[in-house]
Amino acid sequence: MRKKIVIANWKMNLNIQEGILLFEEIQKEVLLNNFNPIIILAVPHTHINSISEKLSSNIYISAQDCSIYENGAYTGDISAEILYSVGAKYVILGHSERRKYYAENNLLLSKKVSIALKNNLKVIYCCGETISDRESNTYFEVIENQIKESLFHLNNDEIKNIIIAYEPVWAIGTGLTASSFQAQEVHLFIRNLIEKNFNKNIADELSILYGGSCNPKNSSELFSKNDIDGGLIGGASLNSNDFIKIINSIK
Ligand code: PGA
Repeated sequence: MRKKIVIANWKMNLNIQEGILLFEEIQKEVLLNNFNPIIILAVPHTHINSISEKLSSNIYISAQDCSIYENGAYTGDISAEILYSVGAKYVILGHSERRKYYAENNLLLSKKVSIALKNNLKVIYCCGETISDRESNTYFEVIENQIKESLFHLNNDEIKNIIIAYEPVWAIGTGLTASSFQAQEVHLFIRNLIEKNFNKNIADELSILYGGSCNPKNSSELFSKNDIDGGLIGGASLNSNDFIKIINSIK
């Protein structure tokens, strides 16, 4: 049975005091309830160590990016090895904000994916089309390329350490959400793509999450679809009540 997963993407929000406060609110709920989904918090790099030291539940901590380099003279960069050493177990790669603002492309991301896996980080790999890709009906092609060019160099053991997040760019932070029909259509497409290149067992076990203005009002409808295994939550994850409601909406 593939895993249900809910990930909070805090992005560049919350100073360390605010971050610890929010983490403690979430951890309290996790300790009180026996939530079914795996819960991952993708926090700013600077918060990973302090939050990891406060973990007493089965929450996992993720980074939001890592360097393409293993180590060395790359001022300001943070390697996968360093992130793992302070407590990160996952890293988000390929988020549309990094593709847009830092010109990250599929080739660069394929290298980051390999470096992350080599250093024991599991990867949350984001893909998704822009509004013009959707309107020109080229979104399947765009998503196929994002997955092919960044993940198809992996072997069968490596791909098992990947979670894919489908995040239509037009839905991120906009309040517009893909309908459950639109999201399911793409999730199934991604699963079939993985089956074709790897095998059916790997495709069946791969968790594919939806992201893009997911909130407590729309999450249960989205999560009710066969191929939607949870969510990558931005804005709504900055409020513990909303985030817990989203976790609870997974059946
Ligand atoms: P959003 O962000 O939920 O605020 O749209 C999702 C994401 O960017 O991961």
